[in-house]
Amino acid sequence: MVAVELCGGAGGLARGLEAAGIDIAIAVEQNKYAASTYKFNFPNVDVIEDDIRKVSGGLILRKLGVRREELDVLVAGLPCQGFSESNRRTRTVGNPKNLLYREVLRILAEVSPRWFVIENVAGIKTLKSGRFLERMLDEFRATGYRTECGVLNSADFGVPQCRRRAFLVGTRTASEFTFPNGTSEMRTTVRDAIADLPHLENGANADRLPYGTFRTDVGQYAKSLRPGDLDTVTGNEVSRNSARVIERYRYIGMGQNWSAIPARLMENYANPNLCHTGVYYRLRWDEQAKVIGNFRKNMLIHPAQDRGLSIREAARLQSFDDRHEFMGPLNDRQQQVGDAVPPRLATAVGNALKECHAG
Ligand SMILES: C[S@@+](CC[C@H](N)C(=O)[O-])C[C@H]1O[C@@H](n2cnc3c(N)ncnc32)[C@H](O)[C@@H]1O
Repeated sequence: MVAVELCGGAGGLARGLEAAGIDIAIAVEQNKYAASTYKFNFPNVDVIEDDIRKVSGGLILRKLGVRREELDVLVAGLPCQGFSESNRRTRTVGNPKNLLYREVLRILAEVSPRWFVIENVAGIKTLKSGRFLERMLDEFRATGYRTECGVLNSADFGVPQCRRRAFLVGTRTASEFTFPNGTSEMRTTVRDAIADLPHLENGANADRLPYGTFRTDVGQYAKSLRPGDLDTVTGNEVSRNSARVIERYRYIGMGQNWSAIPARLMENYANPNLCHTGVYYRLRWDEQAKVIGNFRKNMLIHPAQDRGLSIREAARLQSFDDRHEFMGPLNDRQQQVGDAVPPRLATAVGNALKECHAG
């Protein structure tokens, strides 16, 4: 199957679809650093570095060298801040990013692919008590695409992270889409994912390092993400936190969050009770991670070291393999990793899509 991707980001969705045997031919991404990441990791994809609002279906068809109705699938991982339940500031119906799905509708009408897949946070189902999603589904159905929405938890697909994602899948073909079934038997843990990575300090800034001592008791998961021919690993960079923040970390045990910090160390917070449960959360070795969103802003803490996560640790918790590299300043790379669809979750969706397409 051949796909075109809108809002490609760091390529998590693409990595997973590729593993399912779906070829991405064209990707559109407006952020220059995310576009560089995409180009680096998918050198054969034609990356259009632009706003999807400026990209026409005609351009896509010309670049593909196909006619209307000949493309297999249009995929889009739309920005999710306007839908996310952890975003208390701009989670509103009026957030302009929430209307980017209309660009997908426009391009669908112009290109008429056999399928489309849109990924977003599960919070899309509850915005405006579900009425926003209902309206969106009606609009897609009105264009002739039978459209369903399913929510999948990446932890049920072998990703060491509880991350619930909504997928809207539509088709104008006679095939039915069946969402993949995950299983709790596939669960992997934070230990499986990051215990073999190098020991790092607060503010560590060496990108490439030799792997730490590779312990044989580390699970298959980490081994499966370490390509055999690599002896060094990239992304060993950690934000530098102030001494005051590091002191806060010391009070937080595994599975605890900001509420374990003594009030005298939180005096610059007007009302710490407004923090959500993922803020200053210390990961537990033997469980799945909480959502890896913007792990720097949320101050997600390493299970055993008093520091934030490195890019590579976050990427492992997202199921990126160690070959996948991220471009741009540290803040941007952290955002790219946190924004991504976990590749293994995307593979499950891609496999289901291929099966239904063939059926
Ligand atoms: C949720 S992230 C995509 C993550 C990606 N699917 C992945 O798995 O790595 C959304 C991306 O959309 C991009 N974006 C937001 N608005 C855009 C627009 N109008 N045109 C093109 N890209 C846009 C952002 O820069 C960001 O990289």
